[in-house]
Amino acid sequence: MPATIVVGLQWGDEGKGKTTDLLAESVAVVVRYQGGDNAGHTIVLGESVFKLHLVPSGVLYPHITPVIGNGVVVNPQTLLDEMAMLESRGVATGRIRVSEAAHVIMPYHVALDGAMEARLAGDEIGTTHRGIGPAYADRAWRVGLRMADLLDPRVLRSKLERVLPEKNAVLVQTHGLEPFDLDELVDRATDWGERLRPYIVDTTGLVQAALAQGRHVLLEGAQGTLLDLDHGTYPYVTSSNPVAGGACTGGGVGPLQVDEVIGVMKAYSTRVGSGPFPTELADETGRHLLEKGHEFGTTTGRRRRCGWFDAVPLRRVVAVNSATSIMLNKLDILSGLPQVRLCVAYRIDGNVVADLPASGDLLARAEPVYETFDGWEEDLGAVRRAGDLPIAARRYVDALEELAGVPISIVSVGADRTATIFRRERPRRGALAG
Ligand code: IMP
Repeated sequence: MPATIVVGLQWGDEGKGKTTDLLAESVAVVVRYQGGDNAGHTIVLGESVFKLHLVPSGVLYPHITPVIGNGVVVNPQTLLDEMAMLESRGVATGRIRVSEAAHVIMPYHVALDGAMEARLAGDEIGTTHRGIGPAYADRAWRVGLRMADLLDPRVLRSKLERVLPEKNAVLVQTHGLEPFDLDELVDRATDWGERLRPYIVDTTGLVQAALAQGRHVLLEGAQGTLLDLDHGTYPYVTSSNPVAGGACTGGGVGPLQVDEVIGVMKAYSTRVGSGPFPTELADETGRHLLEKGHEFGTTTGRRRRCGWFDAVPLRRVVAVNSATSIMLNKLDILSGLPQVRLCVAYRIDGNVVADLPASGDLLARAEPVYETFDGWEEDLGAVRRAGDLPIAARRYVDALEELAGVPISIVSVGADRTATIFRRERPRRGALAG
């Protein structure tokens, strides 16, 4: 049994947790491969709602080993708090495994994230203030701490002795903040290491062993392709690679071990934080999407910016992820709108452009060119077969599928697991060639 990647095709918050939930039965291992506690996965299980930031959603299933891969940046305190929350709600956490190579988000990373955003005042990225960017920067700078470092106080101290003076100098001199105390940080990090010791392993070895035994591994992306450090709307992006390729570097699988990539997208667009968003709606329709779609950030509680579906980057994001099929979420939220619009091109400085421009400045000037569809009044929450969708909704889904160029295999019409339409077979790798 090979590996499946679940990846966001927009700016995150596409509902990837539900995709994992639907596949969970056949899956043995669920791996988070990038990001950190900036993410938020909401999973509805019967009457219970779980909001997870760091622990992979697979933790809710007793037969699944949830893995935090080497590409993730881990705030150990968040991890311990999330594990305690799960235990208090009756969810066993003993199966969680954390990569010894995953980098640690230290308190100075969180402080620097906030301080750097404050300095950008008016021009900020709109980060989640979780220390994600500074932790990944230290990884690239080769001065980061890895989870394995927490297990040896001597290594921990010597690495902190090297890095902390520089961090403190920036915090104090550039940002006017308080420095961190070396002994206090060593004690705190040693305590994290002691408490997390049973969970810290070589997760790449674990994933490879699972694949060799024919077990199904699911790699779960956080955020989405348009927030990808390389393929997103830089600099208004996160500091990791949510794209499917990130599952190889951050999850420990090889490209040819992946048999299926399910791209997840909503029937409209949302974005949290700053950055260009050509189809953003500041009107009644935007409010409809915000309120009916409950579009508030899981991590920060911020209102998500809402707008029509932007199909301009769609072909590209399908291609760079090698998406074999798509799960379309929240189609039910569009019910009740007189018209539904789909952005198929941009007008930039008078020219019609069919591709996402590389420059953020150009994208900021893009005006959407829309195709307009009839809306539908019917509530879709009880629909379980594609043929039972209103004709207008079917036309909209068909148009999205044609623009994507791969099958929309699953359509979600509600938060619950059962509110799902299995519309087409999910093709695997190779089936789409030619
Ligand atoms: P950071 O990842 O906290 O550095 O934030 C960088 C950008 O990514 C900001 O625009 C955030 O709002 C956005 N972002 C980070 N995580 C998520 C997420 O899980 N969903 C949606 N946006 C996110």
